[in-house]
Amino acid sequence: PDLAGLRAALLDWFARSGRAALPWRRLGEAGARDPYRVWVAEILLQQTQVARGLEYYGRFLSAFPTVEALAAAPEDAVLKAWEGCGYYARARNLRRAAGVVTRQGFPRDYAGWLALPGVGPYTAAAVASLAYGEARAVSDGNVRRVLSRLYAQAAPTDAWVQARADDLLDPARPGDWNEAVMDLGATVCTPKAPRCAGCPLRAFCAAFASGTPAAFPAPKVR
Ligand code: ADE
Repeated sequence: PDLAGLRAALLDWFARSGRAALPWRRLGEAGARDPYRVWVAEILLQQTQVARGLEYYGRFLSAFPTVEALAAAPEDAVLKAWEGCGYYARARNLRRAAGVVTRQGFPRDYAGWLALPGVGPYTAAAVASLAYGEARAVSDGNVRRVLSRLYAQAAPTDAWVQARADDLLDPARPGDWNEAVMDLGATVCTPKAPRCAGCPLRAFCAAFASGTPAAFPAPKVR
């Protein structure tokens, strides 16, 4: 495939139609993203939809505006701010990891992030790419659906998704690339009735060519 053309098509679309206003995408004074804000967002958004996550995100950052504030807060206060959001282990781990970061500083790379409590491959790749520009591809449900369709792979394994995501990632703009795929999956390449007419990857998409893009990926057999 024309990798350069595909990357340019998605990144152009992202610049014009991506969800630039999401609060965790704001740049700091130095023109970079604040790792704390990105980290909190990615932990929250693992199991919470963006629309709902927005409300919790604002509330959580108001209560704990810095990693030091989070580390110093009693666990009860952190759980209270997380109330209604579910999966409370996320909040406990986040507070515990904030203690580590307060003592040791923010990890600088993927491996360092992965070593923090509650940070798995998805979160480590997201923070490393979004806040530090490290070439790491994220892989989640949205990415799985987009790539399943792009290659008309009806039953993608996790290893297959990660390998394709790694191949496609634009190493020059890994953070933009990752969020572009997320935004495409959330707003265009949706589970039901994907909006292929507005898709920047239509010309590259094997599922579109098949005529039944929504059939990819096939429902998981349980
Ligand atoms: N879901 C998970 N991470 C996200 C991000 N950075 N932007 C939008 N949606 C997301």
